[in-house]
Amino acid sequence: MRLEHLMMKHFDLSRKQMKKLISSGEVLIDSIPATHVSNNVDPQIQVITVQGKQIEDSSQKYFMLNKPSGLISATIDEHLPTVIDLFNKENVEGLYPIGRLDRDTEGLLIITNNGPLGYRLLNPVQHTEKEYYVEVNGPLDSSCIQRFHDGIMFYDRTICKSAKLSILESSPSFSKATVVISEGKFHQIKKMFLCVGVKVTFLKRIRFGEFVLDSSLAPGEYRPFNSFELQLLKQYFD
Ligand code: URA
Repeated sequence: MRLEHLMMKHFDLSRKQMKKLISSGEVLIDSIPATHVSNNVDPQIQVITVQGKQIEDSSQKYFMLNKPSGLISATIDEHLPTVIDLFNKENVEGLYPIGRLDRDTEGLLIITNNGPLGYRLLNPVQHTEKEYYVEVNGPLDSSCIQRFHDGIMFYDRTICKSAKLSILESSPSFSKATVVISEGKFHQIKKMFLCVGVKVTFLKRIRFGEFVLDSSLAPGEYRPFNSFELQLLKQYFD
């Protein structure tokens, strides 16, 4: 959450007073003076002190979800069930999925109520890697690896960044592979495989940046981030 929201919640301060405390170096984030009221902070992950007093707050939530096929990656939808419908109705306030997976795609989705985090994780300048497990209806060979590496060009001439294709199994009517991409174009993986002549029949995200899908989570299951994952989040805070 933004530093100003955290300070407002815990102290009776005006925005002007907050700014003054920040500019006088009396607000510290992990011992370093805060720079702006809009700094993204979380006292579960960082030590935040205001005039020497540490703020305790565990209102921000981070979950790892193994998205099942059939749900859409949104908070609400008029007609279709969303990933947020999997969560207990009493605890969903502010929860949203970071990024989107197609309705028929499974796998890793981060669900949080930390507003600025999504922007940080999805910001194209971060080049956050995403890794997918893919099944297709035809053969894959070294020429596909090369084309993914060189940057696939879609039929509308959009050029993808270099991607790493690793073939796990290949036969004339069924192949398995993993792909690592560092961007997020609409239906990107499905379109990339169509360009090498095969159709994706199953798609699952297994990694997002350094966050690896917990293999003990069945589709539709989720769990709170563990302490290791919370520490990984630190790089996306100010
Ligand atoms: N690429 C796709 O085609 N679909 C997804 O859900 C994610 C990446």
